Amino acid sequence: MTISNNVPGIEDLKLEAELSLQRIWPRVCSIWEQAGHEPADRHAFEERFSNSWPRIFGLAYRLYGTRYDFFYHLEEVARVAAQAWADRPAHLLKTDQSRIYDDSWFQSEQMIGGALYVDLFSENLGKLRQSIDYFKKLGVTYLHLMPLFAVRPGNNDGGYAISNYRSVDPRLGTIEDLQLLASELHESGIALALDFVFNHTADDHEWAKQAQAGVREFQQYYYLFEDRTLPDQYEQTLREIFPTESRGNFTWHDGMQRWVWTTFNSFQWDLNYHNPAVFCSMLEEMLFLANMGVDILRLDAVAFIWKQMGTNCENRPEAHILIQAYNAIVHLVCPGMVFKSEAIVAPDDVLTYVSPQECQLSYNPTLMALLWESLATREVKLLNRSLSHRHKIPSGTAWVNYLRCHDDIGWTFDDGDAAAVGINGYDHRQFLNKFYTGQYPDSFARGVPFQYNADTGDMRISGTMASLAGLEQAFSRNDDTLKELAVNRILLLHGITLSIGGIPLLYIGEEWGLLNDYDFVQDPAKSSDSRWIHRPKMKWDYLQDLQLPENSNGQGGMVHTNLYNSIRRLIHLRKEAPAFAGQQMELISSGNPHVLGFVRHSAEGRVIVFGNFSEQEQPVSGNVVRTAGLGRFFEELISETTVGTSEEVILGPYQVMWLRRV
Ligand code: GLC
Ligand code: GLC
Repeated sequence: MTISNNVPGIEDLKLEAELSLQRIWPRVCSIWEQAGHEPADRHAFEERFSNSWPRIFGLAYRLYGTRYDFFYHLEEVARVAAQAWADRPAHLLKTDQSRIYDDSWFQSEQMIGGALYVDLFSENLGKLRQSIDYFKKLGVTYLHLMPLFAVRPGNNDGGYAISNYRSVDPRLGTIEDLQLLASELHESGIALALDFVFNHTADDHEWAKQAQAGVREFQQYYYLFEDRTLPDQYEQTLREIFPTESRGNFTWHDGMQRWVWTTFNSFQWDLNYHNPAVFCSMLEEMLFLANMGVDILRLDAVAFIWKQMGTNCENRPEAHILIQAYNAIVHLVCPGMVFKSEAIVAPDDVLTYVSPQECQLSYNPTLMALLWESLATREVKLLNRSLSHRHKIPSGTAWVNYLRCHDDIGWTFDDGDAAAVGINGYDHRQFLNKFYTGQYPDSFARGVPFQYNADTGDMRISGTMASLAGLEQAFSRNDDTLKELAVNRILLLHGITLSIGGIPLLYIGEEWGLLNDYDFVQDPAKSSDSRWIHRPKMKWDYLQDLQLPENSNGQGGMVHTNLYNSIRRLIHLRKEAPAFAGQQMELISSGNPHVLGFVRHSAEGRVIVFGNFSEQEQPVSGNVVRTAGLGRFFEELISETTVGTSEEVILGPYQVMWLRRV
């Protein structure tokens, strides 16, 4: 190729891509020709191969083009992709075909996610299969199972320290159980989401063991250092993710006499993606998962996968190229699968992962944090400001809107947004931390600190939704008014995530208002990680209370069953409102600092949403409702009442309204 300034031009790359494909083609063809897939499927695949190759080539070139062994690894990528397609079960090829040009499957108002730990919910995969009806009744159409693979003994970071991506933790079942579950979920119209934990492996993964045994090839899979020289240089610009677990980002390994890069826990070894062999090996693991029947792949800790000296090693441009390369290969091999980014970082950075060519779905940590922020302050100005320029994302992508998950809450709003509405970001985070750990006078929340860093004063918050929203406090005071307020806070937050645009994601168990579980401290493998406080076991007894007559009053049972019934009802109401599909959303100035307002509309209808974040009644002028809703009378879908606009519309404490013109 003609190289000027050592940078090949686009035309050069196109030509190189074409030539390399010609060379590789006969070898990869023989792989899929033996697969026995239908000729029509094969032709479609071959066409996709030729069409996507230049892009895959270009992205791989940007990451690894200067390596002397680039073409070897490039051929590996092609071989791995061909093999994965050859191995792909026929029924998944059908799904691929139907989703290729149609992203409406995840944009639909019918989409509702649920996330759970298999062991905490149902003990094992077999019993989970028997609970499919539970999800159907609740209305869940995509199920995220927290990591269920073989893990290291002892502390395994809730499954995120994986020793083998191809076998299921024997306590939960087998790979066959997983496949069976996937197909039964699919038959019930429920998509499957699993994690791709690709930033690190456990210290007892085969590659890590080989590295420990001194095999140089596998030592290059990780970041190992003989002394502190480089680690000390890196540390100058790195933050600490788990400061109370392990200080710094490197761990000394006695056996190897090396420092190992460990962003998270000391037993989670960061993979070295500067090495193209790691790229190919993890690609193979990823496509293996895809062929299990995964519809949504959650890219864990996505921000951390590329390290560069002198930077904070988060959100690097190469991280994006790498994910785009994986995305392009997925589009080739298994286009029915989409990526969900888990980037719990600053709002501007979160957005950089969201595109049809990178991650079609993304957690929405900014909305999550600001909903809790609004509950604490009873004001919506920061939430409004943030939504006004951060909700919009490219077409073909969707937010995953959640309230709680298995992780902590960090106050990742933007300081510029805060300043624009007269809030000092640093002080506000201190206030929110105090508020949610119950240290602030009159706080209703019962959270606990997570990863308090004495050097910086930073911390994050652990706690279940119910405990953070006031239910734990209400029970301990045995106060019915407080109970009602807490339940209404929880319903308000759901009323927003179910309607604002994107896929709502429930953390299963929260629909019952499970309280903090303080017993995690008894288990030495968990006691130092306060996130276990919000990972309680499912309380199946609550389900039995559903059979009890309305007026019986057991162990606070009615609060839990009422909550469940109300959330379930909200979910079903969402599904009946086509206006809630997709992402498009317009804010309304409600004229009331406590009330969030927005309009959702589609070809099939228009719904106006108001949410009152205070425990007092709040008015919104009838004229605001009339002009936003383009009508004089509205049906409020949740309370089934009619609302007129000749006078002020009054929202009760924490009330959320979904208004449709009559
Ligand atoms: C993700 C997970 C979190 C885990 C971390 C390391 O952020 O959600 O639970 O600790 O990655 O894998
Ligand atoms: C940090 C990371 C996030 C991870 C979390 C776990 O916030 O950015 O990826 O989930 O820590 O606590």
